[in-house]
Amino acid sequence: MHFFNRGIIAATTIVVFLISTCLALDPFTLTGIAVAGLSGTIFTAWQATKCRLWECCGEPWLLGSLDKGAGRALRNALEDRVYGQHIAIELITQNIRNHLAERPSKPLVLSFHGGTGVGKNHVTRVLAETMFRKGMTSKFVHLIIATRHFPYASLAADYRVMLQGWIRGNLTKCSRNLFIFDEVDKIPAGVLDGISSFLEYYGTEVDGVDQRAAIFIFLSNAGCKKIDEIAYEAWESGKTRESLTIFDFQRELMRHAFNEETSTGFFRSDVISRELIDIYVPFLPLERRHVEGCVRDYLREHNYTLAEDVVSKVADELDYWPPPPDAGLFSTTGCKRIRERVVGHSASLKKWTGSQTELEDHSGLP
Ligand SMILES: *[C@@H]1O[C@H](CO)[C@@H](O)[C@H](O)[C@H]1NC(C)=O
Ligand SMILES: *[C@@H]1O[C@H](CO)[C@@H](O)[C@H](O)[C@H]1NC(C)=O
Repeated sequence: MHFFNRGIIAATTIVVFLISTCLALDPFTLTGIAVAGLSGTIFTAWQATKCRLWECCGEPWLLGSLDKGAGRALRNALEDRVYGQHIAIELITQNIRNHLAERPSKPLVLSFHGGTGVGKNHVTRVLAETMFRKGMTSKFVHLIIATRHFPYASLAADYRVMLQGWIRGNLTKCSRNLFIFDEVDKIPAGVLDGISSFLEYYGTEVDGVDQRAAIFIFLSNAGCKKIDEIAYEAWESGKTRESLTIFDFQRELMRHAFNEETSTGFFRSDVISRELIDIYVPFLPLERRHVEGCVRDYLREHNYTLAEDVVSKVADELDYWPPPPDAGLFSTTGCKRIRERVVGHSASLKKWTGSQTELEDHSGLP
């Protein structure tokens, strides 16, 4: 409120000054000047107050530059909430940290690949919360879902123009935006070509659009068979999951996304052929122990006491591959639809009434 008070004092001073020095002015001019002075001050005060009350492109809404400590916070948040994705966590932490800490010369473009329920959406939510105070509800976070926003393949040309307009419009207002494209494999071919110029390196502002601070994330299941295959072969040959690295996947993912007709949005797209994607991030298929972690998280988030019998019952109900006689190693649906499955056991669950610290003691997975 002190902005307003200061404004009023300033305006009154001007009026008094005018009355005492310019007695020649008629009352209408005088009132006019006073109103102009007052509204000018109120306008300035309003601008400052507005950013405190409503989200705008700056402090305190952008949780901008991540120093080393905040980079660690991102890693911890990911490690706490995402199971079985050591490669993704490493790559994402590194790249996001660098992008936010420096003045980037090009937007960061990541492509997440993996099957159902392996954590791709979960990771984007954690990222949004790390970058924007309002998380996924921030007006600078855009979740673009193929089947909702681009349902008809025949309208691809229109969608391309529309999408271009969205990106330009949003980047004109604020250079820090997070664009998430979900189900890229269902985006009609050609639509993504509309955004390739926004992903380029320009090192400067172009036509009032500064795209350098933006982050683009593509989510798809393109190449996910290949990821499954590599994970399975590693297991078969006795390697640990953790020994797999990005080098086992990077080229394969790029090749599959570009060449497989089923990866529609990416299929022969400029985004890939012009090498606009900085990193292809593989999400590995989840094992039973990972899904159990998700169930424990669900119980904790919903204030249920930990019930190991429910955790293993839910894990038992899921399908695993490869089918017998091989050991069913990987969950076919990952951590998707955990809620519905846990709800089926709500009769055996109790709400927690004790202290919150004890509740958080069982940390789930190592
Ligand atoms: C920003 O993007 C959203 C889609 O997330 C779109 O609906 C909106 O029109 C865009 N804003 C501008 C100014 O173009
Ligand atoms: C769990 O408990 C906390 C603290 O008692 C509360 O703030 C929160 O809303 C509860 N969550 C649910 C899903 O009931």
